[in-house]
Amino acid sequence: MNPLDAPATTPASFSGMVDLAEPRAAGYRRITVDPLTPILGAEISGVDLDSLDDETWGEIERAFAEHLVVFFRDQHLSPESHKALGRRLGELHVHPAAPSLKGHPEIMIIHADERSKVVAGNGWHTDVSCDERPPLGTILYLTTLPPTGGDTMFASMYQAYDELSDTMKAFLTPLQAKHESRHVYAGRYETKEEDSRDGSFPESVHPVERTHPVTGRKALYVNRAFTTRILGLSPLESRSLLDMLFTHQENPKYQCRFRWRPNSVEMWDNRCAQHYAIWDYYPQVRSGLRVSVIGERPE
Ligand code: SIN
Repeated sequence: MNPLDAPATTPASFSGMVDLAEPRAAGYRRITVDPLTPILGAEISGVDLDSLDDETWGEIERAFAEHLVVFFRDQHLSPESHKALGRRLGELHVHPAAPSLKGHPEIMIIHADERSKVVAGNGWHTDVSCDERPPLGTILYLTTLPPTGGDTMFASMYQAYDELSDTMKAFLTPLQAKHESRHVYAGRYETKEEDSRDGSFPESVHPVERTHPVTGRKALYVNRAFTTRILGLSPLESRSLLDMLFTHQENPKYQCRFRWRPNSVEMWDNRCAQHYAIWDYYPQVRSGLRVSVIGERPE
């Protein structure tokens, strides 16, 4: 084994509410699950997301807990069925700053073309971690894709946490970090007037490591986009620690990469995964719609 790949410690034994060995052992009766890597990501087939029965949804939830992000091909979602799918995970989130589909404040528009100066998600992040109760998950449905490019990358924050040394884990356990959004959202969505409205730029304090409420696994919960400082440390200490953690999180071993086709759907778990929408297709068009689901306060 390449020593650079060796975990600094044996990953902590798993003792969560969901036995992640069980889905593999039990298999799936309603869906087919093809993992992208052993760490995260799986393509699910044999499913029409527009007409799900509860048993099929139960299997999708198990695959979601096991693989952190799941992908579906050849789907056709109306705004209503997209929202209904999101509501299976929980209450829908309204983005504090980004434009939404007319008449559907819970549906965020994802769009890039030759006039774009910035695109949503073009950097490692977890969605809206500046919120007090950040989205637990997001469901993205893209209908227009460039001929090549526009992939989304994901990274497992379970794996990033597991591969820290025991000494670093013990140091991080009591730490809290500030997550801010003004520097991310201000001036970005200039077609909206909401830049000045209350609540457009939320900020919150969250633990640096969090425990996933479904799997019981620990995940690293800081990200380059929103996490601005670690409380209780000097500015230099905070900056240096965050830089180290951001670099650590970006190990390619923790990542997978999804290649879109029109009418694909991604469903990712913001509590344990980060993502990065690669903008390598300018001036081509890439567009679709996104629904997020309000999560619990990170603990
Ligand atoms: C996002 O961060 O929600 C955008 C993801 C994508 O466009 O692939």
